[in-house]
Amino acid sequence: MTDVPAATEDKNQSLTVRDNRTGSEYDVPIVDGAIQAADLGKIRTDEDTPGIAVYDPGFVNTASCRSAVTFIDGEKGILEYRGYPIEQLAEKSNFLEVNYLLIHGELPTKEQYDNWVHEITYHTFVHENVKTFMQGFRYDAHPMGMLMASVGALSTFYPDARNISDPDNRHMQIVRMIAKMPTLGAWSFRHAQGKPYIYPDNELGYTANFLSMLFKMSEKKFEADERLVKALDVLFILHADHEQNCSTNAVRSVGSSQVDPYSAVAAGVGALYGPLHGGANEAVLRMLRRIGSKENIPSFIEGVKNGNEKLMGFGHRVYKNYDPRARIIKKSAEDVFEVTGTNPLLDIALELEKIALEDDYFVSRKLYPNVDFYSGLIYEAFQFPPEMFTVLFAIGRTPGWLAQWLELVQDKEQKIARPKQIYTGDRQLEFVPASERWK
Ligand code: ACO
Repeated sequence: MTDVPAATEDKNQSLTVRDNRTGSEYDVPIVDGAIQAADLGKIRTDEDTPGIAVYDPGFVNTASCRSAVTFIDGEKGILEYRGYPIEQLAEKSNFLEVNYLLIHGELPTKEQYDNWVHEITYHTFVHENVKTFMQGFRYDAHPMGMLMASVGALSTFYPDARNISDPDNRHMQIVRMIAKMPTLGAWSFRHAQGKPYIYPDNELGYTANFLSMLFKMSEKKFEADERLVKALDVLFILHADHEQNCSTNAVRSVGSSQVDPYSAVAAGVGALYGPLHGGANEAVLRMLRRIGSKENIPSFIEGVKNGNEKLMGFGHRVYKNYDPRARIIKKSAEDVFEVTGTNPLLDIALELEKIALEDDYFVSRKLYPNVDFYSGLIYEAFQFPPEMFTVLFAIGRTPGWLAQWLELVQDKEQKIARPKQIYTGDRQLEFVPASERWK
């Protein structure tokens, strides 16, 4: 497993800060393009007042860690896992190999790969009590709520997971979590449909086994079309990590208390559950349905330009260019529709994209399709209900969460996450007991 590389300090790189309250000047070192917030804390008017703090809701310009897992250049539309371009991984690798890469930091040898696949395959089953526990949810329970609770519950089945300082122990929990996530995800899907939970089929590959647990009924063996298996595997690869996004930050923040990894990942699932993070592809489907036909696109675009609504699946906080994942997903959509028959909404999506990419409103604001523009269409072709879309995202993101967690617990610079606040409330009020206030 890889360590976080040491910071590279260059003595010539510094920032001179002049405090106009006192006239004092401070040299603040710049390391890896960043200054240490703690250095600003040394800037104070006198011994009794607190130093300068950085106010940054949403961490818009605050690095919380140094990481060697994922690189993104949003301006150029580049995404790399451990240095490998996403396009190459999606085309030539598979999800389990990408898991290995993210967790271990380098590609496996043949022997390492075979061992890894063996380990993951033989931990797909969960304790029978997990099944009983999941069956206790209401008939209409949201699968993400079930997944979040079940992942958290695994910490009670593996109390040894608390020993996060032992590398072998950490490895064991990582294997368990990657292996069991599809089982929990598939069961949360079957639950809402009132169908029996299907046990893993360890003769199948990771993604094929997941499809079997989702869709198998009375047949002896469920073997999905290879093209569908490949398309879902690619979707998992595309979602495997995206550096310090909301859910990864949740995993790191909770993990920084040195809790077990199941509890930390359960926090990540919770963060992903929110509509601002994992739910945009569902909104794309609703939008395409509302547009209804190609003839209605121009008036819809006018509405977007007038600020009446948004073109869902377009725009991204980081990517100011074509989201590289969207391009790959578009190709996967074609492969899936070859098997399932086309979705009439695809034609609307393609036309919408064509018109938007030529329109100055979108071009000038650097609004391009993001990963969610086409993913919902694919998931619908698999006959997943919208509530399942985020579960699929969570299964794909699990290796990323774990790679980031592993990096966190080995990083000597990391501390328990504890942001500062700027206090805006009252001070030093005189407490009057209820018996006197309510007279
Ligand atoms: N449709 C129309 N206009 C848009 C869109 C859009 N989808 N996205 C941004 N804009 C416009 C904004 O109105 C703003 O215009 P203005 O300068 O005239 O005010 C400008 O583009 C900049 O937009 P911001 O909101 O400042 O960009 P921000 O980085 O804060 O938002 C976000 C990014 C939230 C993704 C936004 O583009 C959006 O809401 N897109 C639609 C929802 C979506 O697809 N989300 C999925 C993101 S991918 C993921 O999370 C996995």
